[in-house]
Amino acid sequence: MRSLSVRPVGTYTLDSRTRELLIESAPLMESWAATDCGSKDAGGMEEWAKIQGLSEAPPAARCDWYHGTWQYLRLLNLVAVPPWYEFYLDALSNVLRRRPNSKVLISAAADYGMLATLHEATRAAQATPHIMVYDICRTPLRSCQWYAERHGLAIECECANLLTCDIPEASFDLIVTDEFLTVIKAADKPVIVKRWRDLLKPGGTLVTTAMLGGPTTPELRRGYAENARWLLEANSDSFPLHLNGRHDELLKLFHLFASVHTRYMVTGEEEIRRLFDDFGKVSCVRTVTPGECVRPTDSFQIVASVP
Ligand SMILES: C[S@@+](CC[C@H](N)C(=O)[O-])C[C@H]1O[C@@H](n2cnc3c(N)ncnc32)[C@H](O)[C@@H]1O
Repeated sequence: MRSLSVRPVGTYTLDSRTRELLIESAPLMESWAATDCGSKDAGGMEEWAKIQGLSEAPPAARCDWYHGTWQYLRLLNLVAVPPWYEFYLDALSNVLRRRPNSKVLISAAADYGMLATLHEATRAAQATPHIMVYDICRTPLRSCQWYAERHGLAIECECANLLTCDIPEASFDLIVTDEFLTVIKAADKPVIVKRWRDLLKPGGTLVTTAMLGGPTTPELRRGYAENARWLLEANSDSFPLHLNGRHDELLKLFHLFASVHTRYMVTGEEEIRRLFDDFGKVSCVRTVTPGECVRPTDSFQIVASVP
């Protein structure tokens, strides 16, 4: 029998402050996703459904199955988020200390998770950066706006495809994104890395992560759905009150998420080195995270600077 790991030993568990905020925001995100996750010709999380040939199914048309479910899965610690990685605080605050008025790009984010991490680094560095968040979908941008308003942060949001949209070169001192490299398929990885390189000012820094592993097989999907079901039973008291009586609906959401969610994991450090060949200085440190389909999962913490 497959063993269900609740909490891979020694990896991140949800802290109470983040849990409280998620309990408040998860239902909001679910409702925003229902209206704001529009259909796109290309890009976005629905690409996974299209590539799997699920083109007739609803998830192929929009990304609400992803953004609307994301924070419920965060409450179960079942999706990759910045707090899984210890390096972010130091990596981001080091740049912000050197350049307190940095122009910062969050290069796609599932919700306000990366903004919260950047906010922590901003406070640690006592910096006043200008923060821009880009995502191809309006729902995560709305989530960032919600967090920003609550915390008195000024941010700018832009809904655009980062692989193709127009942004002037050398615009940013710091670019940060979590696991974007494992969201996009192999052919797009060099495209986005070149983009990041071009968007950085001289001396600028890119901070990101990339999980290590193989393809997302049907067996892994089944295990993920099973884990989500098991964890929901074990943690139902952590869920927003409005979910009373919606247990079966939630399970359906988790099941759909597991059937579409795909990772294009990196194959090893060599691939990272190759991708970031045009950057001057690259640090790539391997760590262990709680993991999504594979629990735990090894991953790389990447800090790449241009000369
Ligand atoms: C950065 S990734 C991974 C999420 C991450 N682990 C986190 O904690 O925020 C997910 C985001 O990428 C966005 N996305 C996917 N393809 C995109 C593209 N081509 N351009 C801009 N955003 C994109 C999706 O809409 C989604 O919100």
